[in-house]
Amino acid sequence: MNSSAKPRLAVLGSGKGSNFAAIADAIAAGALLAEIAVVVSDVEGAGILQHAQDRGMRAEHLPPGRYRSKLDEESERKLIDLLRDVRVDWVVLAGFMRILKGEFLRHFSQRVVNIHPSLLPAFPGLEAWQQALEYGVKVTGCTVHLVDQGIDTGPIVAQEPVPILAGDTAASLHERIQQAERRLYPVAIQRLLHGQVRVEGRRTFAV
Ligand code: GAR
Repeated sequence: MNSSAKPRLAVLGSGKGSNFAAIADAIAAGALLAEIAVVVSDVEGAGILQHAQDRGMRAEHLPPGRYRSKLDEESERKLIDLLRDVRVDWVVLAGFMRILKGEFLRHFSQRVVNIHPSLLPAFPGLEAWQQALEYGVKVTGCTVHLVDQGIDTGPIVAQEPVPILAGDTAASLHERIQQAERRLYPVAIQRLLHGQVRVEGRRTFAV
């Protein structure tokens, strides 16, 4: 990346795209200095692709191949080639429900960031808000972290707590966590992209 250029992002998602919309809004407002080069989904017709198209952005459906929880080798290779072609600096996962592994992470080492709907390391994996509700914790939240080879295990960049209220259902709790996500993620991405986060092993520090 040349030093005057804005970092170029690929945003990957499988769902409705509310985090993507918050990121795109933060860019439009000048709060996040970045450019979205491409939006990719493993789910045809996903809301995130529609949001991207509505904003005139490049939106690509990537068929994931033969596995359920990860991309197969061919699909991963296609994704790497696409992101290279559009000269992506950072990969932003926004509800992308496939595990990214070896070769992909080597290509974008320390440049893949994810948002997870719990205070990690509690409740990694699927439907973290439901796990929190069932466990009976009083506080959950969301976590922005760098992606490593594990599942939701990479260095933590930022977290925001969300209290669990007496009348909460899975839907009401997830909605409040998502409100926190939409506040936290664009701010954390801006800090990461612009050298305001130093990573030392598992720990990160504000610069
Ligand atoms: C978000 O709540 C995100 O934290 C979660 O998927 C949702 C996507 O919503 N991600 C995970 O659970 C990853 N393990 P969105 O499509 O509206 O941004």
